[in-house]
Amino acid sequence: MRHLLSVGDLGVDGIDEVLKLTDSFVEVSERAIPKVPALRGKTVVSLFYEDSTRTRLSFETAAKRLSADTMNFTVGSSSVKKGESLRDTVQTIEAMGVDAIVIRHGSAGAPWQVAGWAEAAVVNAGDGWHEHPTQALLDCYTIRQHLGTLAGRRIAIVGDVKHSRVARSDVLAFTALGAEVTLVAPPTLLPPSLEGWPVEVSHDLDEILPKIDVAYLLRMQRERMTEALLPSLREYTACFGLTRRRAALLGADAIVMHPGPMNRGVEIAADVADLPNAVIVDQVRNGVAVRMAVLFLLLGAGNDLGGNERG
Ligand code: CP
Repeated sequence: MRHLLSVGDLGVDGIDEVLKLTDSFVEVSERAIPKVPALRGKTVVSLFYEDSTRTRLSFETAAKRLSADTMNFTVGSSSVKKGESLRDTVQTIEAMGVDAIVIRHGSAGAPWQVAGWAEAAVVNAGDGWHEHPTQALLDCYTIRQHLGTLAGRRIAIVGDVKHSRVARSDVLAFTALGAEVTLVAPPTLLPPSLEGWPVEVSHDLDEILPKIDVAYLLRMQRERMTEALLPSLREYTACFGLTRRRAALLGADAIVMHPGPMNRGVEIAADVADLPNAVIVDQVRNGVAVRMAVLFLLLGAGNDLGGNERG
């Protein structure tokens, strides 16, 4: 694997390989000193043109646990503010000697452009509405952890699918691993065409909830909405929010997921996000181990994973 741009590039075998390796890094993360020397001497740079809490910190933690050096780039305090182009920024960073570039960008396709220019491995940490492959991998890992398998599981992805890179990557990964996916949203929050998407569609959350194993709530991406797609947020919550009443319609073993950041009280009720079957914190925790696996596969395959940090 040279880059990780789309989860679709991995195929079933590639996803399985990442998830299997993630088990090892979960074990490393549980050690008293959660660090291995696998990527000593490598440098990982985070190039984030959009805000992030989970993905940025998770990649940074993953790189450090693998003993890589890390560099952080923040648009707000960089020469992008003086007009520097993405290409010049990438060339500048590469000239300093980096082995991996983790990029988040508001434009779909930006990581592919960077991969075309850079010698370093490129990881897509979210590009516009398009893809968020490591989110999909950590979501698959979390579902396997709680439900054993994705094969035959019924997963509802609920909410703002139209603007969601998470939904696009999750549909690819979940269906590749054999899950049945239903998108649940008002028509205005679905993509204009779902041709080629291996999914069912519903506009009735109450009817879907008793039948599913996973309720995957999406954030209402108000920053990406350029037109009035909803009469009001209150009406959205009334029809599509996972309220306490609706959460009670789920089966006893069903889990609730959300990629974060959550709008508590909009797509998910504040108290539902904290129920025992809401595995949102597990998603974040697993994200570090999944990203360790991805960085290791890109930069360190063949190195010794075994020991703790030595000297
Ligand atoms: N899920 C996710 O991508 O969260 P951040 O925007 O905080 O990275």
